[in-house]
Amino acid sequence: TVPLVIDTDTAQDDCVALLVGLLDPLADLRAITMVAGNVGFDRQVHNAWLTLNAAGRLGEVPVYLGSRRPMMRPWESAENVHGDGAGGLDMDVTGLAPQDEHAVDALVRMAAQSPGELSIVAIGPLTNIAAAQLKDPGFAANVKTLYVMGGSNNGRGNITAAAEFNFYVDPEAAKAVFAAGFEVVVVPWDPLTLRQAVFGDERLAAIADLGTPLSDFFTRVCAATLEFDRSVGIDGTTHPDSLTAALLLHPELVRRSAGYHVDVETSGELTRGYSAMSWGVHGLDANATVIEEIDSEGFYGYLRTLLATPTTPQ
Ligand code: BDR
Ligand code: CA
Repeated sequence: TVPLVIDTDTAQDDCVALLVGLLDPLADLRAITMVAGNVGFDRQVHNAWLTLNAAGRLGEVPVYLGSRRPMMRPWESAENVHGDGAGGLDMDVTGLAPQDEHAVDALVRMAAQSPGELSIVAIGPLTNIAAAQLKDPGFAANVKTLYVMGGSNNGRGNITAAAEFNFYVDPEAAKAVFAAGFEVVVVPWDPLTLRQAVFGDERLAAIADLGTPLSDFFTRVCAATLEFDRSVGIDGTTHPDSLTAALLLHPELVRRSAGYHVDVETSGELTRGYSAMSWGVHGLDANATVIEEIDSEGFYGYLRTLLATPTTPQ
């Protein structure tokens, strides 16, 4: 199994990524750490409880609360895309409590406990990861692999023309992470999420037809994003975060990847959060592996099988 932590701003596909960590037999999900991003912080925590419950694993994986805002800027949400991030689902959370330890301390501690073993799937702004590195300069070396959902491989942004949301929200943190010496794998918005991991009508109907509690949960949490995506001309739901978690566990879904030097713009007037992904011709040493192409059908099949898992939510 693969020991991992998922660092998340839990809404929509973050929930699906948590299902990957909670239900894939290859995953040994040690913790969920929360970072400010998609929707209100407390709502994100609520969405994580909902997801643990949907997976039938409430109380089994600890949830740690991390940074409530980016390092140097006010928080900006994506509520216009995600709504509450869980399609209006709700539950009684009486008796559920996050851990007392701060997520940044927990990340540092867990990585130091077994150097070179723990992987992190970072699917929100990189604030917690950058803060952990500031706190412990040995953190990057202690982490086995850091899978990052973020940026765009010299293609389209989704929050501005230049920038993808996670890097836009906390560009200073993203820049610091790429300078820190992690073994990083990047799953960019464009071309992967935007062009290769979109689930259109046929795929969504086949998932709904499963008729499991998990397929209902999936359909519900993806509804707001589906509506948004369609309004901007994307023909289906987008799965940046669950794809990132799936690729850590199933590298066979990667068709092509390459070493890049990745850096993040922090000061541009029109380009805040832009990810400059330089390839060999620019003469810079690679500091990250960027996934360029995936087995789209394979990823879809993987997720559909996962959503067929029988679970007993409370
Ligand atoms: C990223 O931003 C969020 O909207 C998604 O959860 C994903 O992590 C995509 O840009
Ligand atoms: Ca996310």
